[in-house]
Amino acid sequence: MCGITGYIGFRDAYPIVINGLKRLEYRGYDSSGVMLYDGEEMRMSKTKGKVSDLELITNKEEERKLGKIGIGHTRWATHGVPNDVNSHPHFSQSGDLVIVHNGIIENYDTIKQELINRGYKFHSDTDTEVLINLIEEVKKNEKCKLGKAVQIALTNVIGAYAIAVFDKTKPNEIVVARLGSPIAIGVGKDNKEFFVASDASPFIEYTKEAIYLEDGELAIIKIGKEVRVRQIKNDKIVDATIQELQMSLEQIEKGGYDHFMLKEIYEQPKAITDTYRGRMLADEGIIRMSGVDDNLQKFLNADRIIIIACGTSWHAGLVGEYLFEDMARIPVEVEYASEFRYRNPIITSKDVVIAISQSGETADTLAAIKLAKSKGAFVFGVCNVVGSSIARETHAGAYTHAGPEIGVASTKAFTTQITVLSLIALKLGEEKGTLSKNVFHTYLQRMQLIPGKVEELLKIDKKVQEIARVYKDATNCLYLGRGFNFPVALEGALKLKEISYIHAEGYPAAEMKHGPIALIDENMPIFVIATNKGHYEKVVSNIQEIKARSGKIIAIVTEGDTEVKKIADHVIEIPETEEALTPLLTTIPLQLLSYHIAVFLEKDVDQPRNLAKAVTVE
Ligand code: F6R
Repeated sequence: MCGITGYIGFRDAYPIVINGLKRLEYRGYDSSGVMLYDGEEMRMSKTKGKVSDLELITNKEEERKLGKIGIGHTRWATHGVPNDVNSHPHFSQSGDLVIVHNGIIENYDTIKQELINRGYKFHSDTDTEVLINLIEEVKKNEKCKLGKAVQIALTNVIGAYAIAVFDKTKPNEIVVARLGSPIAIGVGKDNKEFFVASDASPFIEYTKEAIYLEDGELAIIKIGKEVRVRQIKNDKIVDATIQELQMSLEQIEKGGYDHFMLKEIYEQPKAITDTYRGRMLADEGIIRMSGVDDNLQKFLNADRIIIIACGTSWHAGLVGEYLFEDMARIPVEVEYASEFRYRNPIITSKDVVIAISQSGETADTLAAIKLAKSKGAFVFGVCNVVGSSIARETHAGAYTHAGPEIGVASTKAFTTQITVLSLIALKLGEEKGTLSKNVFHTYLQRMQLIPGKVEELLKIDKKVQEIARVYKDATNCLYLGRGFNFPVALEGALKLKEISYIHAEGYPAAEMKHGPIALIDENMPIFVIATNKGHYEKVVSNIQEIKARSGKIIAIVTEGDTEVKKIADHVIEIPETEEALTPLLTTIPLQLLSYHIAVFLEKDVDQPRNLAKAVTVE
């Protein structure tokens, strides 16, 4: 994980690097650091904690105007505890070279031993300090320029990296390289300035032109020159394509909300509409998705669909299982990418693999995709981040178009992933004839109403906040749901855990009596999804069983429900829709609930402890 930024040009580097780091804090926030080159010396400031802590130690106006070249880092600790010394950037032994790194160098220990034998001394526990000294050693031995030294050094490392390296003895260039971790280069007008970052958000107010490095590529960025990109292994020059950025500054700002998470919850009506816009023509009764249309036979002839993902995306995949099986009658398996990749799974060319990832950078999902491809499967990606590694690695795909998701806890990514999966399942159901024309048309009409219903649902925010106030001090919570809403129960529990640090578990409602029922007492809040379709009576019986053991029930029911209302401690009503579409609604109050509990507990909602938005390490 970690985020890196850099600047070389004619402006003061400090504000660009610092503001860039703030936008990249979703990638990790254990520690941060910045190096500014003042024309003679490299000035380093780094500290444990967030970028706001870094600002406190670099708060002198003169320090901020130190140079036109700088690199910065915000860290999610892998090797070495988060402390000042392990924070990036790291100098080489001579003090001439400096590096920021996102990733893991797996063979760092062996390299470190060799360097120690050659007289190098290390100050931190990081793999990154090993890498910068390896680059220095190569540069010394080969008597080569920085770019060549980085290239040779990288051929000797095993692992993942996105790096930016600067050499004060040749202070007109920054060298960047990537393998497994993303890197974007912002290109300023007439090549007078360049920006480097883990994604394009740090530089969108300065340039709309960016080069995204591919895995195994290295770029030399020099003021006044075009960016030179080459492949690290075979030294081949690559034609760097400059892409036009679609992102806007407004999209990545809080826009009056207290937290990104709340903003993103409220953005869901628009995000869901953007996901089906142009793809679902409800009045004509058509779904067109180029990634599916172009590969329709692969989907229709599939023996099986295997969905691979992690975390919230895995929960969306579970909803997908119900959707595909129900609508298109195709068997589905949903796998944690992290398990799948090491399981020697049985995959054939008749399998369609769907990889789901908001960031498009999750290391386990990426590795699982590569494995599935190597076994001949057709791999389809469902990603949010355009141009991300997973979007590029898959054979075809569909973007969710949710817009940037910055809060670490995933919200609109989940509902838009479910929207994409619903569209695919509906399309396949219609093509296969497993859904009648009538039912298909009804679904499209109902889907079109979902954004409006989410909008309606958001109006109950105050009520959810009051419920959150009642249960904020709970130490354990249970989430129950069945069928399409079982994955929503898992997702509700995950949301609460990650931002409020309250222990929570999600269960299929009927499984409760096989174990979790032992936990129930008067202190246990139980969130039950009890919508009017799909096992309603059975869920009502489960609620009775909980009440008989004095558990507190917070039920999510369909508008007009009377039965659950009689027994539950609190009810939250969702508008009526088709059962298969209810996850798009039942999710919303659970997101709000976690949000408000975390706010009451004064937790860091957007940057919960120990987490990062893009998990680019396994
Ligand atoms: C939960 C959350 C994580 C991610 C998981 C996968 O709120 O954000 O569980 O869902 O790390 O990330 P992506 O979807 O980027 O592959």
